Amino acid sequence: KTPQILHVAEREYFHDEWTNLSPKILDAVEKKLHLRNDHPISLMKEVIVQHFYKNYTRGGNPIFAVFDNLSPVVTPEQNFDQLLIPSDHVSRRKSDNYYINKSYMLRAHTSAHEHDLIKSGLNAFITVGDVYRRDTIDSTHFPVFHQLEGVRLFNAEQLFATSDDKTSLSLFEKGEKLHEKQACHTMEAAKLVEYNLKKSIESCMLELFGKDVQCRWIDAYFPFTHPSFELEIKYNGEWVEMLGCGILQQEILNKAGAQHHMAWAFGLGLERLAMKLFDIPDIRYFWSNDEAVLSQFRGHSDAKNIKFKPVTSKQPALYHDISFWVPKEFCVNDFYDLVRNISSDIVEQIAVMDKFTNPKTDRTSYCFRVFYRHTSRPLNKLEVSEVHSALKEAAVKYLDVDGRW
Ligand code: PHE
Repeated sequence: KTPQILHVAEREYFHDEWTNLSPKILDAVEKKLHLRNDHPISLMKEVIVQHFYKNYTRGGNPIFAVFDNLSPVVTPEQNFDQLLIPSDHVSRRKSDNYYINKSYMLRAHTSAHEHDLIKSGLNAFITVGDVYRRDTIDSTHFPVFHQLEGVRLFNAEQLFATSDDKTSLSLFEKGEKLHEKQACHTMEAAKLVEYNLKKSIESCMLELFGKDVQCRWIDAYFPFTHPSFELEIKYNGEWVEMLGCGILQQEILNKAGAQHHMAWAFGLGLERLAMKLFDIPDIRYFWSNDEAVLSQFRGHSDAKNIKFKPVTSKQPALYHDISFWVPKEFCVNDFYDLVRNISSDIVEQIAVMDKFTNPKTDRTSYCFRVFYRHTSRPLNKLEVSEVHSALKEAAVKYLDVDGRW
């Protein structure tokens, strides 16, 4: 049997038992929305990058180096190990990530580049790129989205630059781990880095949304930072998580040869921010080829002030249910990927209506409700039932489920 070859981002890879890339995802790898002129994702990136260029300079030059064209293909070492994510951690599961094969995957976050960029000697950098996660289907989730990551390193001299008593201040001590700091950091250093991190992010949010934006900091956990925080922003009356951040685990810096520095890092979701900034109601609009959508973002001198007008009037979603018995190794993300491949984006949302296991036969059955609505044109009932039938057929064929219809 000849091994199957996969083409991803201009390179070739062997297929193996880890491979779970779908055609839809392979398509998305080619799109690079963050590099497309006048696309809302690239506009969002530009506004943030310009903010950092303008406000952080040394001798008139920007201190942050920007990387927006690193390949999304990384190794599990880059995506997990270099960030101290334990080898048995749930986030490595095949059901949550897109693996090219056992040795390569599509990055699940831009943090996958931190180690390499720090190792290359950089003290301040921003990474922008497409990231990939298998996930549920609704108006704010898409298996591909874009992150912007910022990292800034400080040595003692830089961190304590404004204090009078420089000689007695130090970044490091042999202390104990506390809620506020890592064991090896002094409290004053940790507090200064945390303050610098939060102020840098807050000033960026003020720049984007104006002074009336409501933000709040929540304690969080990431294996690669301590302490860790999340920033939530009020959006349509709800608090929405926009970014994760924290003080980088010293072990990561030490392994990358930056043992005399401390660092903060943040990673933010560009879609979430763009949806808020431009009033975009559904994440699928970012993938639209419709002129009526794209033209709204073209040729603006002040991107921040664009307000998006959805293209169709609010036609109600049409829905159909689908129920089936699943084989033992089934995971719901397999079904969501299948829907994405079959339905070419006319599915707005999927709700799990019911899941139960028959205690006698030990078989599990699911019922999903699939909501159909196109982002920019009305759908007719016939078209929707045809897609839904195709979906049923494909579920039996590819997922080995036992249809209950
Ligand atoms: N990589 C994290 C995520 O994707 C975000 C993050 C980046 C958190 C940097 C802390 C520091 O959720």
